[in-house]
Amino acid sequence: MIKALRGMKDIIEDSDKFTYFIKKSSEIAENFCFEYIETPLLEETRLFKRSVGESSDIVNKEMYQFTDKGGNDVCLRPEGTAGVVRAYIEHKFDKLKTPKQWYYFGPMFRYERPQKGRLREFHQFGVESFGEESVYEDIKVILLASKILDSFNINYTLKINSLGCDECRPTYMNSLVSFLDEKKENLCEDCQRRITQNPLRVLDCKNENCQNELKTAPKITYNLCENCNKDFEILQNELKKLNIQFEVDTNLVRGLDYYNKTAFEFVSTEIGAQSAICGGGRYDKLVEMLNGKPVPAVGFAMGIERLLPLVNIEPKREGIYLGIMTEDARDMALNKFNELTNSNKVYFENRVRKLNQHLKKADKLNCKKVMIIGEDELKNGTFWEKEL
Ligand code: HAM
Repeated sequence: MIKALRGMKDIIEDSDKFTYFIKKSSEIAENFCFEYIETPLLEETRLFKRSVGESSDIVNKEMYQFTDKGGNDVCLRPEGTAGVVRAYIEHKFDKLKTPKQWYYFGPMFRYERPQKGRLREFHQFGVESFGEESVYEDIKVILLASKILDSFNINYTLKINSLGCDECRPTYMNSLVSFLDEKKENLCEDCQRRITQNPLRVLDCKNENCQNELKTAPKITYNLCENCNKDFEILQNELKKLNIQFEVDTNLVRGLDYYNKTAFEFVSTEIGAQSAICGGGRYDKLVEMLNGKPVPAVGFAMGIERLLPLVNIEPKREGIYLGIMTEDARDMALNKFNELTNSNKVYFENRVRKLNQHLKKADKLNCKKVMIIGEDELKNGTFWEKEL
């Protein structure tokens, strides 16, 4: 028997929740004036190397990368942001810094070690906002994420941090690296390697021993420049006013290299170890890093598979059940089916059945209305109708 690849799943049992999630999240994004964008699943590998970053785990270990028949080095997208930024530049929106707010959903691919909540093919719902450098755009984007999660009654903790900018980050990095160099002997192998490659990532090492060593590490939020500090304060004040609960987590650095200033993650305590349900932040340098004109941007992505166990759909009666009690009525019923499906959800039962059998099935299917045609109705050209 041929089975789906390890870490890849058919969405069958949860398909109603899956489509419901996308529909509702899209509606909320559209209420925030975000428009839909679709980008290819396959992109040039160097797009991700230059955006997600050569030192990140995603690029280092997790890419589905191959040479296509034309000799191009390509890769299945591990995330959505890089492709959307490429599209923004390719369609020349960067030239005039045209503001664009986009949302998207679709499959992403990471060759990770599969476990509960961690897949090799998973789906994200994401948004990206270009052209707005004000921290109020970060607030808007976080509000949008929280509205989506609230609309499904999902409990979460929001963690926020500021990663600083080109002005304040280098000084902070120097003091962090000096601190880490002193502790080097006591840190795990991964952390030792990261001190030179990506020192910020040391801060979110999951190793307990490393976390103990890092307790006294310099904190980025105490080393921000005036501008970053002011924005981080506005962010916190506005979230409080909007009644969005949050925690400042100075170890939140995100696993992708393109972020600056605001970084955030929504986590759930109800889904096991892989608890991040949404991650995002500001990435003001990325458009430029991919050879566009400098345009500030901010966005997030949610992991749909991680959210589905938390989504409940109230079963509600909907749609019309259409049934026949005599073979002669088939044509008339088929015409009715043709007419009704223009604006209704209709279940057309093909088999000739007695009235009570039809009613039982309509009830089981949770239909709202039943329309049946038997001998008498056929003569009158009518349908027997009942609301359930
Ligand atoms: P990310 O944190 O790598 O960010 O992924 C976002 C979300 O995707 C995670 O919070 C998680 O829910 C889900 N996710 C990630 N990996 C897996 C996996 N292997 N299996 C299941 N779910 C997973 C990004 O991808 C950024 N592009 C987000 C962003 C958009 N930043 C700015 N704009």
